[in-house]
Amino acid sequence: MKAIRYHQVGGPEVLQWEDTPEPVPGPGEVLLRVHAAGVNFADTERRRGLYDAQVPLPRILGSEAAGVVRAVGPGVDPSWVGRRVVALTKGAYAEAALAPAGELLALPPEVSFAEAAALLVQGLTAYHVVHTVGRVEAGQTVLIHAAAGGVGVLAVQLAKAAGARVIGTVSGEAKAKLAREVGADDVIRYDQEDVAARVQALTQGRGVERVLDSVGASTWQASVDALAPFGHLVSYGNASGPPPLVEVESLYAKSLTVSAYWLRTPVSPEVQRRAREALLAEVVAKRLRIVVGLTLPLSQAGEAHRQLEGRSTVGKVVLVSED
Ligand SMILES: NC(=O)c1ccc[n+]([C@@H]2O[C@H](COP(=O)([O-])OP(=O)(O)OC[C@H]3O[C@@H](n4cnc5c(N)ncnc54)[C@H](OP(=O)(O)O)[C@@H]3O)[C@@H](O)[C@H]2O)c1
Repeated sequence: MKAIRYHQVGGPEVLQWEDTPEPVPGPGEVLLRVHAAGVNFADTERRRGLYDAQVPLPRILGSEAAGVVRAVGPGVDPSWVGRRVVALTKGAYAEAALAPAGELLALPPEVSFAEAAALLVQGLTAYHVVHTVGRVEAGQTVLIHAAAGGVGVLAVQLAKAAGARVIGTVSGEAKAKLAREVGADDVIRYDQEDVAARVQALTQGRGVERVLDSVGASTWQASVDALAPFGHLVSYGNASGPPPLVEVESLYAKSLTVSAYWLRTPVSPEVQRRAREALLAEVVAKRLRIVVGLTLPLSQAGEAHRQLEGRSTVGKVVLVSED
């Protein structure tokens, strides 16, 4: 099969479209014919050697794939063969990829492969930062950074559905428009405006109850300053670099909570199943809009990375197979 691999860490140019043996499903696994591979910001960090650097090279990137089950390994129900599914995988930037059979999510016909590729990494992250960690409730105001990004557009919609008022931050006018379209009540251009001051103005000096921060270094101080007394900052990414070390003493004045979310933290299969099914049901019911902002052929993964790192994408970035 063909796959995108890299043999050394570096810029987008290290991603090569190469021949590589098709993997064979082991016990409990299925082989997927990949129709759409989700691209995530963390893939760009892996490629740069900033994340998961212990994984041996050459490596195929890609943590999620939507496609059709082509073969099953020992112990897996053969009726999966031929079904449309999405799954967390290792090595999704390829014509075929393995996935654990226990984590397959069957796709109804009305959900496209490209939409499905946004459901797991970005969808589950948005779900858990809003609900499991952030515990966003009706009546709260939530500040969501990078609100037009892949996780951002979903987090805005989930926080609104929970009854919160949402303030999104973005760079650029097109992103501001999209953040409003998916439900943000107010949008702050953090490339132009003082975020903490705007938040204070928008909340009559109270601040926000929650901040969902995936940007890190460049937003951290504004996030802390924007919080209301007893507010809660959920950190889940470092797109601009790691945030500063948190001095616990600095949290006392406003009795703040700072917490973190990581997709790989083990959660009970039941909680994860509920989250996946809730996301899928919301998409089918057209209450959760998946914004696929960029679709490129698998062989152009390097270009997808260039655009994602260059902050020119909105919503989900997807690589699709070429035949
Ligand atoms: N904790 C977890 O398990 C987990 C899981 C999934 C994702 N994440 C994190 O969540 C964040 C969003 O992921 P995503 O895949 O949905 O990406 P994304 O939001 O579509 O893209 C990243 C966005 O971050 C913003 N950004 C701010 N400063 C940046 C900088 N210096 N360089 C690049 N981008 C910058 C940009 O939006 P603006 O132009 O509007 O600023 C950019 O579009 C990432 O930090 C990712 O690592 C964490």
